[in-house]
Amino acid sequence: MAFRHPVPWTVPLLALAAACSGDAEAPVETAAVRGERLYQNVCIACHNANPALDGSVGPAVAGASYELLEARVIHGVYPEGYTPKNAGGVMPKFPYLKDSIGDLAAYLAEAAEESG
Ligand code: HEC
Repeated sequence: MAFRHPVPWTVPLLALAAACSGDAEAPVETAAVRGERLYQNVCIACHNANPALDGSVGPAVAGASYELLEARVIHGVYPEGYTPKNAGGVMPKFPYLKDSIGDLAAYLAEAAEESG
């Protein structure tokens, strides 16, 4: 029951709990699956539910690197030398997602592969 909690930012804690318990029956969740849930909860307010497409406000983000995600989502900036697809500066920061950047990167890498 605790492992099905819908609030995404509890997931890293639950994953840690599962890792520590050594319980072979703990559900196996890949980083991409966690990232997808997070993206579909938080990011699609502005980005497209299909990350390969532009959203209502935010640009396509499929294939976004860990470095880009960390800069944009946590710090509200861009990696040095990166040319933004859209430089409006509208996107807020989400510092509470600092432990989920790897999950988002895994999901967006997968989304880029699927879209070809
Ligand atoms: C409130 C609307 C909004 C939300 C919510 C939002 N974004 Fe954005 N995002 C934008 C906008 C608008 C841009 C374009 C730059 C700007 O205007 O800040 C952007 C740009 C980006 C970029 C840079 C794209 C590029 O290559 O230039 C990434 C990566 C990104 N967002 C990822 C995310 C992720 C991951 C989430 C969810 C955790 C998220 N965004 C949530 C609005 C949003």
